[in-house]
Amino acid sequence: MRLEGERILVIGGTRGIGLATARAAAEAGASVVIAGRDPAKLARALESLPETAEGRLVDATDRAALDRLAAVIGRLDHLVLSLAAGGGAGAFRALDIAGLRKIVEGKAWAFLEALQAFLPALRSNGSVTFVTAATARAAFPGTVGIAFNNGALNAVVPPLAVELAPLRVNAVCPGVIETPIFATWPEAERERFFARARAAPLGRPGRPEEVAQAVLALLANSYVTGVLVEVDGGLRFTAPRD
Ligand SMILES: NC(=O)c1ccc[n+]([C@@H]2O[C@H](COP(=O)([O-])OP(=O)(O)OC[C@H]3O[C@@H](n4cnc5c(N)ncnc54)[C@H](OP(=O)(O)O)[C@@H]3O)[C@@H](O)[C@H]2O)c1
Repeated sequence: MRLEGERILVIGGTRGIGLATARAAAEAGASVVIAGRDPAKLARALESLPETAEGRLVDATDRAALDRLAAVIGRLDHLVLSLAAGGGAGAFRALDIAGLRKIVEGKAWAFLEALQAFLPALRSNGSVTFVTAATARAAFPGTVGIAFNNGALNAVVPPLAVELAPLRVNAVCPGVIETPIFATWPEAERERFFARARAAPLGRPGRPEEVAQAVLALLANSYVTGVLVEVDGGLRFTAPRD
């Protein structure tokens, strides 16, 4: 899978799945631009990428900032959205709905704003990949908030693929992947998710590099559009009980 001559922007590319995707794309010969909000995270991420990698600071919840970046970014062949505010897990009866609004603004809303902002910069037959979540379709208790946020994005992939063609629009849906996103989760909630991953057919949490490989396949394959690809070790086949 080679991506020589292709330029890829990864928003949420300074850590976890986004950074692994940027690294894999650079190894496949692409020019990568990574973006996130925190300058320290961005600097650390750039140190781990080839010297040709570029970094940009942007908050994807700030449309004016996205538009400013889009105006100067130059030509893009692919856009990968791998950002999230994080959180949203917990039993529905006690779910903080006002808090969930912020979480959705930090992912589903931000993805739409970012896609719209960067459309003029994208090659007409390039691609967009959303990193959503397998939990949106796995029906585990305590995942209503996550399903709401990511299910909305999964739902718009097919109509976007039709409306924006020949631009290709796809989603990768990770299961439980070992990234720093879990660092701020309550211990019991985190352990519940990791226990589910251990109970899944492949018996372990995934690695960011494994999700990155699926993203790369979608970037490279010029005849795939409108699909949701689960990278979850079979998590969605495990019985939805705790
Ligand atoms: N890890 C998992 O198990 C898992 C499972 C299912 C789905 N996912 C999804 O996969 C994606 C990546 O997750 P991850 O685990 O790699 O998370 P992560 O390690 O927390 O990385 C998130 C990245 O997004 C950036 N970011 C967050 N909010 C942003 C904003 N408003 N504007 C710009 N950049 C922003 C972060 O940098 P700054 O904080 O510096 O902005 C960071 O680079 C997320 O959408 C997540 O929901 C992850």
